Amino acid sequence: MDWTQKYTYNFPCPIRFGPGVIKEVGPHLKEQGLLNPLVVTDPGFASLPLFAKIMDELKSAGLKPVQFTQIDKNPVKKNVLDGANSYHEQKADSIIGLGGGASMDVARAIALKAYHERDLFDFDDALGGDKYVVEEIPYFITIPTTSGTGSEVGRSTVISEDESHQKRVLFSPRLMAKMVFADPELTMELPPHITAATGIDALTHNIEAYVSKGFSPMCDGIAIEAIKLINESLYKASTAPCLKSRSKMQMAALMGATSFQKGLGVVHSTAHPLSTLFDTHHGLANAIMLPYGIKFNAECSSDRFEFLCKVLDLGEVSSKALIDWTLQLNNSLGLPRDLSAIDVGTDKIDALSDLALKDVCHQCNPRPVSLENFKEIYSWAIEGNL
Ligand SMILES: [Fe+2]
Repeated sequence: MDWTQKYTYNFPCPIRFGPGVIKEVGPHLKEQGLLNPLVVTDPGFASLPLFAKIMDELKSAGLKPVQFTQIDKNPVKKNVLDGANSYHEQKADSIIGLGGGASMDVARAIALKAYHERDLFDFDDALGGDKYVVEEIPYFITIPTTSGTGSEVGRSTVISEDESHQKRVLFSPRLMAKMVFADPELTMELPPHITAATGIDALTHNIEAYVSKGFSPMCDGIAIEAIKLINESLYKASTAPCLKSRSKMQMAALMGATSFQKGLGVVHSTAHPLSTLFDTHHGLANAIMLPYGIKFNAECSSDRFEFLCKVLDLGEVSSKALIDWTLQLNNSLGLPRDLSAIDVGTDKIDALSDLALKDVCHQCNPRPVSLENFKEIYSWAIEGNL
């Protein structure tokens, strides 16, 4: 495959991929008869010259873009309600989710809330809320600027309650983007620590999807190829980025979110509470928890972990070898080995475990996870017990 070319993909939704596809966004919206997109992004990205360049690109195509940037690091309901008001006040006719996972989540939730009167959390997936997604959804496109969550191709959005910060998942197939513009050039300036943490999030999606309980050979194949791409490119993309390594990581992130349609697992269920209680970056939380999740699942997924060792050409073929590979990768990227490094101590195990048990991801984990199991996994991760 030639990484300098542009490609069109249709699984799971239309994807325009390749260096420079950002220039096609304006003409694409114009073709739909849309001129006033609400560009939803986080305040950090909005302060970068790249954001101004993208807005100028849209204007030069004859559009009048407006913006909404009041997004928390872990988005809350208030962000979505403010964004939906902004959509109407600024007379927008479409929505662009631009940025990383938080921007995508808020943009998608604004698209949902724009013409739906119900309380936002009535759409909670755990309560069967997708049946209420019946009204108009504004034309919605996504432009990722990180290579991690892959939520640009997703159909769900994670929004936290304002006070408790408990995460709620809103889902509907109607929330999928009409078009994804994935331009690796937009990720070239990502700082090393964000590249590393978001990259490990993509890796975790693919490893968890590959061993998850669902049956999807298509997703398995996508996950295996994505893990190879990450092995080839994450270190380089983080330490000495070039367009090829950035392109491979962006593709691997898209593939991760595609493969995890099959399901995620215990790593995400133990990572989410760290963000809820300590505002830990999602990718960083996954990076720390991944080796401990592999250790927990080794007794039922050793065949698959051993196959990944062969795919990665590790020499030794065992679950322990895969754990060691994740530790070495984390170490090479400057990511911590255990929870003590981010000041999480044993006094937090009960609160973390209670939240982890309520998290939906572990329902797809290959090995059932009890409250006691969660306490054990967190204690391993605090002590660095592998
Ligand atoms: Fe994730």
